Amino acid sequence: MSKSFLERVKESNVKPVMKTTSNDNKQGFKTIAIVNNKGGVGKTTIAFNFACILAHMGKKVLVLDNDPQANASRLLQKDNDTDCYNMSRLYLNHEKAENIVEESGFSNVWIIPTSIRQEETEEVIVKRKDNLSCLNRWIKDNSKILLNKYSIDYIIIDCSPSMGVLNKNAYLASDALIIILGPDLDAINGLINFGRVYEDIYKKETRRDETNVKAVVLNQMNMDSLVSQVFLEQIQQRNYPYKQLVLDKIISYSDAVALTKAMGKPINILSQKEEYFTDAFGEMKSIIEILHDKEVL
Ligand SMILES: Nc1ncnc2c1ncn2[C@@H]1O[C@H](COP(=O)(O)OP(=O)(O)OP(=O)(O)O)[C@@H](O)[C@H]1O
Ligand SMILES: [Mg+2]
Repeated sequence: MSKSFLERVKESNVKPVMKTTSNDNKQGFKTIAIVNNKGGVGKTTIAFNFACILAHMGKKVLVLDNDPQANASRLLQKDNDTDCYNMSRLYLNHEKAENIVEESGFSNVWIIPTSIRQEETEEVIVKRKDNLSCLNRWIKDNSKILLNKYSIDYIIIDCSPSMGVLNKNAYLASDALIIILGPDLDAINGLINFGRVYEDIYKKETRRDETNVKAVVLNQMNMDSLVSQVFLEQIQQRNYPYKQLVLDKIISYSDAVALTKAMGKPINILSQKEEYFTDAFGEMKSIIEILHDKEVL
């Protein structure tokens, strides 16, 4: 008899090997958006940690903070500027990368930061023609400099909890969308609604049938809690878009992960100092390795 999803999650301890050299052939970089139009599922926590762990593995990563809450900017920007317009300049002025990319506080990670000012940008962009392709055009026009000056392997976009025009830009500019789900019993309905809206936009804008949603990662899972267990049963039993993309390996709910945001340090750095963070680091790294094996990353 085939194993249940719950059993597979409990057993999954895959440790594939990921190359630790920087972009093997330097012909390009991958753009990955971390998404869910629902708030608080862990998008920023995962974007921040993925970026720093990839850098720890030898990759070079540029984070775009696409969320006016500016949580990724707080974590990555060296001098947090609460009136920062860098992402706004990207969208409004098609500003060159070298004028808006900043070094982060962590080696091999760069950031295009933002601030609450980005709310105003959204209002301007939405009225423009071709308002869904600004970021895609910016990435194409700046790809040479991103490769030649920064040797970027990955662009990771931290999205806000909305289906607004700037997020649609991020979705359409990405090679892969990774959807983060928390153990909320409404999460599957959220996925159904997201799929309904996004599939239409994607087909209309790209004229392609198969979307760029490439993985669904379950975060904040507490296997001792009934809510997480019932949620996992639903994930297995119900039908919804992207079901086949849900990873067996989950990210557990842990204070160690929450502390990365609270302390402003990624899990790879914290785990070097305290054993307390080792398990959470291993779990997050395994997810990255699985995503790499599946050619999502
Ligand atoms: N695996 C985890 N274990 C424990 N806490 C977590 C985990 N992942 C995220 N959190 C905590 O959950 C909260 C929300 O996380 P985060 O800000 O990353 O979510 P978000 O999806 O980016 O939110 P928003 O939609 O507002 O941008 C934070 O306090 C974070 O520390
Ligand atoms: Mg966030």
